[in-house]
Parts: sequence; structure tokens; C-alpha cells
Amino acid sequence: MAVESRVSAERIQDQKPRDQFKSQLGFIFAAAGSAVGLGNIWRFPYMTGTNGGGAFVLLYLICVLFVGASLLLVEFAIGRNGKTNAIESYAKIRKGAKWIGFLGFFSAFIFLSYYSVVSGWTVYYSIQSFFGLNGLAPDQIGNFFGAFISDPVKPLMYHGIFMALTVGIIIKGVSQGIEKSTKIMMPMLFVLLIILVIRALTLPGAWEGIKWYLTPDLSKITGGVWIAALGQVFFSMSVGMSGMVTYASYLGKHENLPKTSIIVALMDTSVALLAGLIIFPAVFSFGLEPGAGPGLVFITLPAVFAQMPLGSIFSFMFFVLLAIACLTSSISILEMPVSYLIETRKMARTKAALLVGAIAYVMGIAVSFSFGIWSDFTLFGKGIFDLFDYFGSNISLPLGGLAAAILVGWFWGEKDAVAEISNNGEIKGTIVKAWFPVVKYVVPVTVVLIFLSNLGILKL
Ligand code: PHE
Repeated sequence: MAVESRVSAERIQDQKPRDQFKSQLGFIFAAAGSAVGLGNIWRFPYMTGTNGGGAFVLLYLICVLFVGASLLLVEFAIGRNGKTNAIESYAKIRKGAKWIGFLGFFSAFIFLSYYSVVSGWTVYYSIQSFFGLNGLAPDQIGNFFGAFISDPVKPLMYHGIFMALTVGIIIKGVSQGIEKSTKIMMPMLFVLLIILVIRALTLPGAWEGIKWYLTPDLSKITGGVWIAALGQVFFSMSVGMSGMVTYASYLGKHENLPKTSIIVALMDTSVALLAGLIIFPAVFSFGLEPGAGPGLVFITLPAVFAQMPLGSIFSFMFFVLLAIACLTSSISILEMPVSYLIETRKMARTKAALLVGAIAYVMGIAVSFSFGIWSDFTLFGKGIFDLFDYFGSNISLPLGGLAAAILVGWFWGEKDAVAEISNNGEIKGTIVKAWFPVVKYVVPVTVVLIFLSNLGILKL
């Protein structure tokens, strides 16, 4: 109550035309909504599956702790200090740092294009929950999935529906569109995940999956696994693309940034870990292959639903909530370039959202085709989907995050940066004290070491 009234008092005082989040809780849900999405429920399990199980999970947690959580706070600080789009917010700290924002601007197109293709799959699966998907055996579901994603037309329709929803919310703006839509759906998703964990853990043979998921086999660790874990942290926590810079630019000066970053990091990590606790027991129980790749969740989950009373209802609820979690992430990807086009290029919000959405939609057509009619086309040994995913998560996001950490640690300076995250000394505590040295030294050193180990120059 006190926070709310202070925030609204500030808004009345400012009388700025710029939109703002209306409450601290609204911002927490929006930032957590950006973080929680396909990254946790779809990408985390399949990356764990293709990168050696428990060892990947261990490296993932290390990267959350030493890199992800503090970078979240870096992006919040840069955004709230800037109070404008990400590109200009970087320039406020140092003129030459605009390129970090432009890198994010460019990455946003890559991410939005493939994110909305896969999110389209979740929309299709919600509808299919009532049309036979649940009566199928695991191998039949595999065939069903394969036939769907390789179809040249069908996935494009759902890709289009999803993109239209994303653009629609962004046209509505921050407090009416983004804030309202995230507040109810996020808690619902969480509850449903817990129900599914209980069902998965009680499947026959579930224990084998848990062991595989949670016992790290250290011999599996390679430079490739390190970079995959780092890329997964960036992707999942929405850092490195300046999406969080953009969101935080709509924040009032009184919000508690350190607290928010911890809550978001914890929510994001727990959803990913819960998703693994659903998928791997199921994978082992049904004798499926953990290294199956992007189809993993779309094949194992329907198999779990088939084993539940009222399976189609649970399946429907799950895929609808997942689609909504995707939407609360995709809007944060779209808002990043849109805010720049509005504020710096003076474009109308509607026009900017439609323009970016249309370009990303067309790029997404190529991504969708790479699962079917263009599956033979490769560049650097990867298909279009893999190329977008690898470039986006393993190169562009870590590079953006590294640059932002260096900017804050070495150019912004301790006094100003810490004043921003502590609301001019009002907020105290270990996080406020530890954050700056971690950003200045630990984040750059860790990211550079992981890059070197991926190039084979160093063995971690
Ligand atoms: N974090 C989102 C997810 O886990 C994806 C995302 C990446 C959103 C980068 C914004 C920026 O699904």
C-alpha cells in the first residue's frame, strides 16, 4: 500500500507522457514473465538432455549464481538510470556504448523470429489436447510432432497467431498490456507445474530419470557444455539482449532493484528445475531418449498427460499457460526494438510494433521451414533454427552481457552504479556490497574463460 501510493504520487508529480509500471509487484511479474518461458520449460530440459544431464545442471547453477543474477541487476540499473530505450540508456553512461544496445536490437529480431515459431507449436498443442493427442502412445506422439513441425503451412498459421498476439499486447503499452497480462497467469503456471511434478515422480521407473538429471557426471564437462550452460542462463534469464534494460526504464525511482533481481532469478531457476523434474522421470519411465532435442517436451509431456485422469484438461491447461508464459517473454523481446523506434526514431507505437513483428514473422518462416522443406540447408554445419539459436544464445547474449558488465564495472564506476541499485544508499545489505566487485571482476572473467574453453584454447 505504502509503496503503491508513493509510486502513484511520483507519477502525478512527474506527469510524464512516458508509460510506467504501476506497482512493484507488477514489475516483478513482468520481469519474471519475461524470464520464465520457453527457456525454462522447453529449452532447459532439452539442453540438459543433449549436454549430459546432471553435469549440465551443475554448470547451469554455477552460471546463474556467478553471472546471471548479477547481470540481471546490471540491466535493471542501466535501464532505470536511463529512463529511456536501451540504446540511449547505454549512451547515458558512455557515448561509445550504444553498440551494446544495437547488438540487442539485432538479436531481438533473431529471437523473436524463432521464439514465435516454437510458441506457435504450444498454441497448436493446446488445441490438439482435445483432438486425440492424449490417446496416443509415446512413439505415435513423436510421429505426430514430427509431421506437424515439418509441414510447410500449418506451423506458419500458429506462428502468425502468436505473433499477432505479441504485437497486439505491445500496441497496448506497458501498464495496460504488459503488466495486466502477467499478474494472473504466472502463479497459475507455477501451481500446474507442481501438480505435474507430483504425477511425473510417481510414474514407474521415475527414479532412474531423477538420478540421471541430478547426479553430475563430471567427465561429461567440456568447453561445449560450459558455453551451452552459459548460453542457457542468458536465454532463460532474459539477459544480454537489453530486454531487462528496457523494462527497468519504465520503473519508478523507489523500487527495490536488488530484491527484485533475486526474486526473478529464484523464480526463473525454480521453474527450470521443476520442468526437469517433470520431463526426466517421464523420459525414463516411457523409455524415451533424453537427447531427443527440441521435440523433447512436445513428446514427453503429452505422454505424461495420457497417464493422468482428465489428461486432456490438464494438457489443455498446461499448453495454454505455456503459451501465455511464451507471450509474456515475447512481448519483452518485441518491446526492446519498439521502444527505440518510438523514442529515437519518432515512430508511432502501433507502426513500430507492426513493423518489427512483420520482419520477425518473415524471418520465422525460414526457421519453420528448417524443420521440414529446408532441413537440408545448412550454414557453418547448422540448420537455420540451430544457427539462430546458437548465434543468439551462445554468442550474442553472452557478448552483450559481458559488454554491459564491463561498462558498469569499469566505466560507470562504483559510486554511481551502487547509488542506482541502492536508491542512493537507502537499501543496504550483502547483495548491494557484493554486487559491484562481482560485476567488475567475476562476470567478465567467467564469461571470457568460458568463451576460451569453447574455442578449445583452455580446458575448464
Ligand atoms: N527468457 C525467455 C525465456 O526463457 C526468453 C527471452 C530471451 C526473453 C531474451 C527476453 C530476452 O523463454
